[in-house]
Amino acid sequence: MFKLAHLSDPHLGPLPAAKMAELLGKRISGFLSWHLNRRRIHDMRSLQQLLDDIKAHRPDHIALTGDLINIALPGEYENASNWLAALGSPEIVSLVPGNHDAYIAAGWEKGFARWSAYCAGEMRLPGSGSQADISPFPFVRLRRNIALIGVSSARPTGIGIAAGWLGREQIEALRKLLLHTRERGFFRVLMIHHPPVPGLCPPRKSLLDAGELMPVLEQEGSELVLFGHDHRHHHLSLPSRHGRIDLFGVPSASLLAHKGAGAGWNLYTIRRQEGSWMTDVVIRSLDADTGVMQTREQLQLVHRGMNEVPAT
Ligand SMILES: [Fe+2]
Ligand SMILES: [Fe+2]
Repeated sequence: MFKLAHLSDPHLGPLPAAKMAELLGKRISGFLSWHLNRRRIHDMRSLQQLLDDIKAHRPDHIALTGDLINIALPGEYENASNWLAALGSPEIVSLVPGNHDAYIAAGWEKGFARWSAYCAGEMRLPGSGSQADISPFPFVRLRRNIALIGVSSARPTGIGIAAGWLGREQIEALRKLLLHTRERGFFRVLMIHHPPVPGLCPPRKSLLDAGELMPVLEQEGSELVLFGHDHRHHHLSLPSRHGRIDLFGVPSASLLAHKGAGAGWNLYTIRRQEGSWMTDVVIRSLDADTGVMQTREQLQLVHRGMNEVPAT
């Protein structure tokens, strides 16, 4: 049995102090957006309630699907590094970045590299060459008979654009990894920030090459796909040649509960039973009326057609 927690989009606040020069370009629009609107939506007390709730459920591993920060200020990367360390060690936390983590081009090398231990892969495909050394994505981390596969859709974009894309090389590398881990009998969990299904987000917020990713998922399959970005609960199913794919999106982990549900996360308890994968899903969210974390929904998934599972 393997217990996997999934959270996303904590959008850690408040924004640290910034120099005027640091606010030039796209950052100024995000800075104004935070102070005029977003700081009231992303509530750090709600985030702490969610983290306490996750901890109480004692997961074996935590999947975090991006947007840790807001406008990629140097101080935000530093704050998020400390927050990540408190969340857990790189051994038990896996991270893919979101568009806000790559808000401007300059923020990537100086910023995201601080978190790279949380997306360090542990497996190289034969012949993967130097590309794998240049980019950590896609990465694969093996935990018992679970393969956590992370891709990055986080790209610096223009003002008002929150879209992302994977690129041809990353999609091709992902195809090989899905094939490789499927043939070895792993339960595959794909982590991606943007919803991978076309049409789920408006174009300015969407995964621009979802149309190229979909045939790969259909061909190779993946038992679970976890995403964030849309700040809402989602559960979709897609057919593949190797069985049904279940896709889950979670709300922002710091979403203030207002007229309904707020911050939310999912718990997936995965086990093998009589040749199938059984996954119990518990969907948790902060209730606006009671002010506490509650179970919103529970469901059980069955994935068949697994190969022999290796001992890991
Ligand atoms: Fe977000
Ligand atoms: Fe996002």
